[in-house]
Formats: sequence, structure tokens, C-alpha cells
Amino acid sequence: MKDTLKKLKKEFELALKNVQDLSDLENLEQRFFSRKSGEFTNIMKSLKDLSGDAKKEMGQLANTVKEELEKVFVQKKEILEKEQIAHLLEEESLDVTQVSLPVMKRGHLHPMSLIHKELEELFTSMGFMVVDGPELESDHYNFEALNIPKTHPARDGHDTFFIKDHPDWVMRTHTSPVQVRAMQKYGAPLRTVVPGRCFRNEATDASHEHTLFQMEGLIIDKEINISNLIGVMKGLLEGILKQEVKVRLRPGFFPFVEPGFEMDMQCLVCKGKGCGACKHSGWVEIIPCGLVHPHVIEAGGLDPKVYSGFAFGLGSMRLAMQRYGIEDIRHLMGGDLRFLKQF
Ligand code: PHE
Repeated sequence: MKDTLKKLKKEFELALKNVQDLSDLENLEQRFFSRKSGEFTNIMKSLKDLSGDAKKEMGQLANTVKEELEKVFVQKKEILEKEQIAHLLEEESLDVTQVSLPVMKRGHLHPMSLIHKELEELFTSMGFMVVDGPELESDHYNFEALNIPKTHPARDGHDTFFIKDHPDWVMRTHTSPVQVRAMQKYGAPLRTVVPGRCFRNEATDASHEHTLFQMEGLIIDKEINISNLIGVMKGLLEGILKQEVKVRLRPGFFPFVEPGFEMDMQCLVCKGKGCGACKHSGWVEIIPCGLVHPHVIEAGGLDPKVYSGFAFGLGSMRLAMQRYGIEDIRHLMGGDLRFLKQF
């Protein structure tokens, strides 16, 4: 038994030398001292089979060895723990001489997001569904299905960005293509609005942008007429501008509506006196609209003898200008923080 103890002591010391970190140390503790089957524990257990003096002698010896082993074990443990703490401190070191980073200012929603959010709330409260469509459109949805054939002069006003090697793709010039997509997808009756970005090859000025936001609206049902259209449009403007607005309706031509109108509102920026926002006329073209052309209803897969509807294409940037008193449309996409901070 003495030899076994000696041998075990040697083994323990060797194993301790090879210990690299605290987890090695834990394994070593298990191997020698685990209550169930530790190698040292087993020897202690076997003491009970001895008798008399032998038991006493061996018991004392075993205890001495155990104390020795525990001592070196604890020493090793302390060293390793110190090492680990030093390592952690090194990793988390704090350089108090480092120049501090500027505190970032908290952002907020862009005025276009704010106005679209408000419009969506207003329209959903009237039972409209908000839908989305692709910004890169096919010639079919952007023009053909909207009753604008290849040779039609209306295409001139919709000059846009075309995609190289893809003659049938266009950056959509309006949100109207989603009228047809929505009819095809949801059928009738239908009440939907489509907020989104459109693109035109436009020389920019105070009231024109090459990248612009619109909100399309479409109602398809039985027996829809012009007074429905006027009622919804006026409700919309007063709901969003929170005041009575003067509107006027002029005939307007769009191949996908018949009859078609331009709804103008008196400019709120200058109260009708004339300014940059209204091209010095006192009136702002705000909602082109009209009754949906039978060809478009057909393209949407519905029967124009059964269904009729109205559509409008709200210029939501112009509406934002009226709402917030912005005199130049280019501010909206300019990204100037001094402008944006005001919202
Ligand atoms: N899509 C037309 C444009 O961008 C606007 C419009 C929409 C007109 C719906 C009538 C009906 O010019």
C-alpha cells in the first residue's frame, strides 16, 4: 500500500506539472479526488479493509500525503486564477487617454415617410388597402396595360430611365401600373392606395424632381361616379392639411382615365398670391384623377360592363410641401441635415 501511495503521489505531481489552465486543473481534481472514483479516494476507501496497527499507520500516511497534495493543488489553483484575471484585464483594457467618439444624434423619420404614414392611416380608416409594386417595371404595366401604346405621344411626358440591354424594362414613371397589378391580384370590389417612388427624365426646378413620390389610389366597384371621386379627394386633402382647402377641377388628359381631371388646390404656402411652390400661379396641381378607362379595367381582368372605378395619382412630395410650407421640392431629396432637422 505504501508503494501504491508513493506511485500515486508521483503521478499526481507529474499530472499537475502538465496542467495549463483551470479546466485542466478541474479534470485533475476529478481524476484523483472525485468522491465516487477518484484514484486517491479509492485508496482512502480501501483503508477500511486493513486491521489494527496497519490501519492506523497507513491512515496517518495517507492523510499526510493527502495534505501535501492538497497544498500543491491549492497553490497551483491560485497561480492559475491570477493568470486568468490578468488575461481578462488585458483584454478589457481601458485606455483613458483615447479621444472620445462624438455622441451620435438620434435620427427621426423623413418628412416623406411622415406624410406617407399619415396618408396610409387616413386611407386605411376609409377601408383602403395599402399595396406595393416594383420600381423597375415592364413596358407592359407602365404603358401598354394603361392604354398607352408604343407610338402614343403621352409617352413623351414619361421619358424615364431605361435599362441597357432590356428594352422592355423601365424605371416606373408613375405608380399607376400597380392599378392593373392590384386588379389582377385582388379582383373587385377593390379599394387600394399605392405609395411609392417614381422616376422621370426631368430638368429639376423648385417644383420638379427626377425621383419623386406618388400615392396612387384606386376604387373599383359597381356604379362608381365622379361625385364619389370629388368627395374622396376633398376629404383626403382636408384630412391631411387639417384645414378647409379651396379646390378646382380642370379637364386633364391621361390615357388610362376617361374622363380625366386635374384637381388643383389653392397654394397654402403663399395663400394664393403666387410663389415658387405654385409656379407663381396661386394654384398647385395636386391630384390628377379620373374615372378608370374601360381598357384598363379589362387589362386588370375585370368586365368594364359590370365594374367602374376612379383613380388618382397624388403627388405626395407636393402635398408634403403644402403641409410643411416647403418652397422648393429639391430640399426633400437633398439630404441637408439643417433642413431635415426641422421635422
Ligand atoms: N399616373 C399619372 C401621372 O403620374 C397620374 C394619374 C393617376 C392620373 C391616376 C390619373 C389617374 O402623371
